[in-house]
Amino acid sequence: MKQYTQVNGERLLKRLDDFAAIGATPAGGVNRQALSPEDRKARALLAGLAIERGFTVFQDKMANLFIRREGKNKASPPFLIGSHLDSQPTGGRYDGALGTLAAFEVLETLEDGGVETDVPIEVVAWTNEEGSRFAPGTMGSMAFSLGQIPEEWHELRGTDGVSFQDALTETLGALPVAKQRKLCFPILGYLELHIEQGPTLEKENIPIGVVTGIQGTRWLEVTVTGQAAHAGTTQLTFRRDPMVAVASALHTLHSTIMPMDENARLTVGRIAAYPGSINAIPGSVTLTIDLRHPESDRLDAIEAEVLDVFKVSAAAQSCQIDLHKTFDMSPASFSGISINSIETAARDLGLAFKPMVSGAFHDALYISRLAPTAMIFVPCREGLSHNEAEYVEPEHRVAGAQILFQSTLEVLDALSIDSRRLS
Ligand code: GLV
Ligand code: MN
Ligand code: MN
Repeated sequence: MKQYTQVNGERLLKRLDDFAAIGATPAGGVNRQALSPEDRKARALLAGLAIERGFTVFQDKMANLFIRREGKNKASPPFLIGSHLDSQPTGGRYDGALGTLAAFEVLETLEDGGVETDVPIEVVAWTNEEGSRFAPGTMGSMAFSLGQIPEEWHELRGTDGVSFQDALTETLGALPVAKQRKLCFPILGYLELHIEQGPTLEKENIPIGVVTGIQGTRWLEVTVTGQAAHAGTTQLTFRRDPMVAVASALHTLHSTIMPMDENARLTVGRIAAYPGSINAIPGSVTLTIDLRHPESDRLDAIEAEVLDVFKVSAAAQSCQIDLHKTFDMSPASFSGISINSIETAARDLGLAFKPMVSGAFHDALYISRLAPTAMIFVPCREGLSHNEAEYVEPEHRVAGAQILFQSTLEVLDALSIDSRRLS
């Protein structure tokens, strides 16, 4: 069994607190939405810490942020470790931040120990993983994997009306220390540490999840259009009420999709009635639907069912529907080499682990299309995430970073490209 240097747990815990102060909410969470002033502040803090340690900072045109610690072979593609710094509007302190700051801790631990790796290792903070201000999610890693920014994103606006292009330009300009990098440069592999965001590890008292893949996600936007009319004077037979159609469709979907398939997930997280007046039947109602399933075929079937149910409910109210897909992320399977390396690291540390499929999507999904990739999960209290009360025990935060440190060196070894010195 190999002996590895220990990461500096105290430093990591303090860093997590420092970053949680950026966009801190009164309820103890974080509001650091993508490309916002708070997001820019967190990026600047991380870049400043990197410069202090003598690392090099880069960003590509999606504002994906890279921090490079050089390897002996400077011409080699880097190995990436990281996550994201943006949060949900009422997000937690660890979703994304843990993986990014633990990755930075890995670089610092290597630097403290004077460990030379054969190849460069880079921390990455992907832009807009959450997708709550600008949809879709994982924009940064998706554009990186495509090698270009999809044309339609230039027209996007955030939930606050701000143009995506303007917010991106401002973010890019706010980090003059960063050198420019092209999208989709070659990489050797990617590892991401993240909180589980579900209850399994805590319930089973297992400190490490070895993530073998990610279930698929689809986002739909549905608009049901009827006729705006007076709330007091319009008799039932004259009403074309899109709210009634939506209520009926959602009732049907909620009582069929998930009860009939325990692996299916259906969530309506945003709904708006127009014109939004207390004494008018709405002219239209728009809502979002988040669908998840580990199997693509089932996602196809559920999407078809959603369409059918809305058609029937809308027809009953003489309303029209318009349904379009805003995000389609196929399920992913991670690399065997990377998975084995995480398992070896957990065994070496004497930590129990469990293979699992991620219910949440992550940047690792797109990066797994480019190079060997896997993820490490640590438990979070009551499985709660996308919530200001999200909490991860300090020992799990540090254990996650130690596993990330060791599995990074393990996977480089397994890929036969590392000649590190063991301490
Ligand atoms: C990621 O934030 C997700 O919604 O799965
Ligand atoms: Mn996340
Ligand atoms: Mn999230």
